[in-house]
Amino acid sequence: MSNIQITETVLRDGHQSLLATRMPTEDMLPIIEKMDEVGYRSLEMWGGATFDVAMRFLNQDPWERLREIKKLAKKTPLQMLLRGQTLVGYRHYADDTVDLFVRKSIENGIDIVRIFDALNDVNNIKNPLKAVKKYGGIAQVAMSYSISPIHTLDFYLNLAKEYQDLGADEIAIKDMAGILLPERGYELVKALKKAMPNMPIVVHTHDTAGTGSMLYLKVIEAGADVIDTSISSLGGGSSQPVTESIVKSLEGSKYPTNLNQELLSDIAEYFKTMRNKYLEQGLIDIQSYFTEPKLIEYQLPGGMLSNLVSQLKSQKAGHRYEEVLREIPKVRKDFGYPALVTPLSQIVGTQAVMNVLLDERYKICSKEAKDYIQGFYGKSSVPIDEDIREKICGTKEEYKGSPSDLVKPELEDARKEFAGVADSDEELLSCILFPQVAKPYLESKKTSAPIEIEILP
Ligand code: CO
Repeated sequence: MSNIQITETVLRDGHQSLLATRMPTEDMLPIIEKMDEVGYRSLEMWGGATFDVAMRFLNQDPWERLREIKKLAKKTPLQMLLRGQTLVGYRHYADDTVDLFVRKSIENGIDIVRIFDALNDVNNIKNPLKAVKKYGGIAQVAMSYSISPIHTLDFYLNLAKEYQDLGADEIAIKDMAGILLPERGYELVKALKKAMPNMPIVVHTHDTAGTGSMLYLKVIEAGADVIDTSISSLGGGSSQPVTESIVKSLEGSKYPTNLNQELLSDIAEYFKTMRNKYLEQGLIDIQSYFTEPKLIEYQLPGGMLSNLVSQLKSQKAGHRYEEVLREIPKVRKDFGYPALVTPLSQIVGTQAVMNVLLDERYKICSKEAKDYIQGFYGKSSVPIDEDIREKICGTKEEYKGSPSDLVKPELEDARKEFAGVADSDEELLSCILFPQVAKPYLESKKTSAPIEIEILP
């Protein structure tokens, strides 16, 4: 009998997938002490889009959220999602920024850092991984799951071994689109466990295509150690498979979870009230709860579908949706089969839209697409055709170095630039990551600060 461990995702991926990451800190805090007693392996509650959205849309300090939750979750490890060298932002940051960001994340309460890169390029993983180890965090390195002629079992085995050699404490399979089917997941986990018997294996999926819980059962049978689930009130659909359903299904099996089900039911009730509020506020797009098996064919992450629809509608081109869906796999092939996850999901999606709307392929390309094709985001899984590169970038030349080598140390300059704005390393990092958002946010926080001090005693 071996226990299977559960990472609860409602505080990060759960609400990122279903309500565009709009859950504010005050909706989380009242339930954390209960969540802390359930017996979860960890609470995923930070990173991904939460950092940006907290400041940009919720007018909240992401660092404060982390500290507040840490105060209440005394036993359960806190977990975050880090996009490799791009951290929680959208460009490659310098090594000194990466080091400071990881240090501050761990100092403020993060225990487990899940690090991934859309291109599975080791160059984008190694610096953050080094920093996580240096500051005493658990480095869980995730392989972005994708389907293409080159994404074979051996591809993932070799990648996992590379990450093991770099010092990964755990290996995760990140199936952000929910396209990893049960039998394939079984083979993959079985092979990983055979190659590295002592390495904990974590599996992350989304239930968008309705296949998530079958996948989990099979990977558990294959020896997976941890799976990601989300509490029922914000689970299922494009979120993770539902925590209580998985727990119930495994009860009495060879792989019990031993989570406290009474508490789970309280937590579900609590988030149900929150969900009703979000529904009233129009924050939940009902579409994200619908099962969409077509995704397996198109390989799109759930969030990307709804973005596409709104992008096309705003161009009065909603009727060309199917054409765009057909164009996406073609662009992805031309782009060397990147996994469709941030930022490549946006880059490929936007390109497909432009190719269709302009009735000519690659007539117009975004700066991001050009940078990616040039090699500035890292190495693509399959080399990009020279003719494609010439058409998009006007040159056959490719950048072959590591993306982070292009960014010079930036902390010293940033300290000068944000001297009057940032009062701490945490605030400085917010400014470096999202200058347009963090600056006004921090300035407004300061002007209202004296009032807060007055009313506090
Ligand atoms: Co996810």
